[in-house]
Amino acid sequence: MLLNGPNLNLLGVREPEIYGRETLADVRQRTERHAAGLGLAVDFRQSNHEGDLVSWIQEAREKASGIVLNAGALTHTSVAILDALTAAELPTVEVHLSNVYRRESFRHRSYVSRAATGVICGFGAKGYVLALDALAELVAARTGAGERPA
Ligand code: DQA
Repeated sequence: MLLNGPNLNLLGVREPEIYGRETLADVRQRTERHAAGLGLAVDFRQSNHEGDLVSWIQEAREKASGIVLNAGALTHTSVAILDALTAAELPTVEVHLSNVYRRESFRHRSYVSRAATGVICGFGAKGYVLALDALAELVAARTGAGERPA
């Protein structure tokens, strides 16, 4: 399951000098294509609401083999998302388009990181593709490739 948090629906128009010019639809297309090459099915979602992300992580716990998550600003605030990820016990790759460590100090703390297997940040939309590569290996190591959609 590939989850995107608040304001990522504005990708391409929102601060393009930071987040790039690719839209979320472009990112979706790129990740779905890449995942197919890896033998993974991607369930790609975005919400501006914390509760949606919590519910989707709970859903992933039941039916996905792993999670790629860009929680946007909720990364830096949401204990509820951390708790959901901890409960999910799935391989999880945290993604940020921007290099959050070059930015304001409030972006340096991530609750998501406490439950993530690893973190990819600063590579723009390519980070999602890198995350899928990492997840494919984690899933294959855990369950054998292709058993459940990521
Ligand atoms: C972001 C970084 C966050 O700090 C910010 O609030 C976002 C996007 C990124 O992808 O770089 O919304 O997660």
